[in-house]
Amino acid sequence: MLRTHTCGELNIDNTGQDVTLTGWVQKSRDLGGMTFIDLRDRYGITQLVFNMDTDPDLCEQARKPGREFVLSVSGKVTERSNKNKKLSTGDIEIIVNTLKVLNPSKTPPFTIEDETDGGEEIRMKYRYLDLRRNPLKKNLELRHKLALKTRNYMDSIDFIEIETPFLIKSTPEGARDFVVPSRMHQGTFYALPQSPQTFKQLLMVAGYDKYFQIVRCFRDEDLRADRQPEFTQIDCEMSFVTEDDVLAIFEGLITYLFKEIKGMEIGGFARMTFDDAMKYYGSDKPDLRFGMQFVELNALVKDSGFKVFEDAELVVGISVPGCAGYSRKQLDQLVDFVKKPQIGAKGLIYVKYNEDGSFKSSVDKFFDQQAFQKWTEAFNAKPGDLLLVMAGLTDNTRKAMGTLRLEMGNRLDLCDPNVFKPLWVVDFPLLEWNDEARRFHAMHHPFTSPKQEDIHLLEPHPGKVRANAYDMVINGVEIGGGSIRIHDKELQKKMFALLGFTEEQAQQQFGFLMNAFEYGAPPHGGIALGFDRLAALFGGSDTIRDFIAFPKNNAGQDVMIDSPSVISEEQLKELGIGMVGG
Ligand code: AMO
Repeated sequence: MLRTHTCGELNIDNTGQDVTLTGWVQKSRDLGGMTFIDLRDRYGITQLVFNMDTDPDLCEQARKPGREFVLSVSGKVTERSNKNKKLSTGDIEIIVNTLKVLNPSKTPPFTIEDETDGGEEIRMKYRYLDLRRNPLKKNLELRHKLALKTRNYMDSIDFIEIETPFLIKSTPEGARDFVVPSRMHQGTFYALPQSPQTFKQLLMVAGYDKYFQIVRCFRDEDLRADRQPEFTQIDCEMSFVTEDDVLAIFEGLITYLFKEIKGMEIGGFARMTFDDAMKYYGSDKPDLRFGMQFVELNALVKDSGFKVFEDAELVVGISVPGCAGYSRKQLDQLVDFVKKPQIGAKGLIYVKYNEDGSFKSSVDKFFDQQAFQKWTEAFNAKPGDLLLVMAGLTDNTRKAMGTLRLEMGNRLDLCDPNVFKPLWVVDFPLLEWNDEARRFHAMHHPFTSPKQEDIHLLEPHPGKVRANAYDMVINGVEIGGGSIRIHDKELQKKMFALLGFTEEQAQQQFGFLMNAFEYGAPPHGGIALGFDRLAALFGGSDTIRDFIAFPKNNAGQDVMIDSPSVISEEQLKELGIGMVGG
């Protein structure tokens, strides 16, 4: 080794030892008679001292290396007179007797400190420098620990990790596929997997009854803070299980991870049906760190003479604690917020439940104090609370109200990143109507089994059929999703037909799976957890990019390696692909 110790290792017990350290110059200070260098590596920072009186040549030499030079130094560990309690090595320093520059460095384009002056763009371009900073280093360490502990847990309950291929066949699963042209079979393409879904089901047919894999998935979809084109799943499948079995195992995994990594008892998972999640929170991933459940007011407002309410399919509101004192300006801001095109509400009605028990509202013309009294009872509101009410078509109004609820939760600081409220959302609809395509789409994926008791509705009312599908939601983030699968060829065929596949299309795209179902497919089900999202949740952030060593930017590019990029004409020719625009 080129070093005897790391820069985070030495303490008062090492005093008097001769050591050799290697690392990067974090900063240096030249105080005339003395030069100090903070030497940094992955493990910490150690202070180096050069003394003009005892070794003027070396001290002179020590003035030269700039930030991020790579050094090797040898010297003696000495107790410091003014100790630095913030550093693990803060009780000691190294009186250096040899200094070697292993490699110089250009001045980095941004400061490599916890709080950096570099913008997002430049830090992405120089990701390897950004990764030297503590916050990112901590995130990657956390990610590593999560993977390690996940493997321990899964192994301890007899799951085995099996790798599935990356060069597969393009199949519709919701998002678009990334495709890879084949050189040997020109004009044909592999696709990168959106998930190992069909392979894990084939592993069940093969008898590997408890499979998992920490695996990269690829989806060509629009990016957001919690979405990357390549991301990682903890992908799992089990045979001979019910929905409850799957939920219990993965509740167990999350409970174990919280305990092992954060030292926290997370408590049991709540359970809520999809219908209730939409009705009470306007979202299929409700954040349960705070209340403000929806209350529907249709029955209370039906003969009010207020057209907006009378014509509405749904009149729904939330009671915001302690906000009756909101000013005109604050209320106008909320109205502007809900009218933003992304939210799309037509307006917002407020009722202030004043501390003295009186009411003041934007619909005073239509409702008297007694009517408001009834409203507050429905909300279980207290004096000082502010009721916010919207009206319109059910789905749109619920969605808009759900967004407003989150906004109010954020404004009132109710979304503490150190509080975790896990939830299973269950009984998702099997299908969802797509207006554009004028046909049903699988809400989860085409392999999800309908609930036994709803199968009779498949033909007459496909939209009403519920699935054995579930999502794991923590603090309003969809951490994972899964289902019990169809394992019967005929039912799978029927499902493809409902989704608008002709028999030939179904056979061509999924024949391999349906054929496998003819050779003793066991009942099976599973789940996949978004590993990057889990890491971000544990790290108290909602940006998964910060938990991926080399992520893509919001435009799906890697600006460091400049990808995606054009390929040579020769490569294109070899692949049998014509030049774009050529
Ligand atoms: P699903 O599509 O719900 O299910 O994905 C599972 C989980 O993966 C995460 N996730 C993502 N994370 C980051 N970037 C993305 N682009 C992205 N897309 C999804 C989410 C999500 O909950 N095969 C099924 C699982 C199953 O049925 O077993 C599947 O992939 O956290």
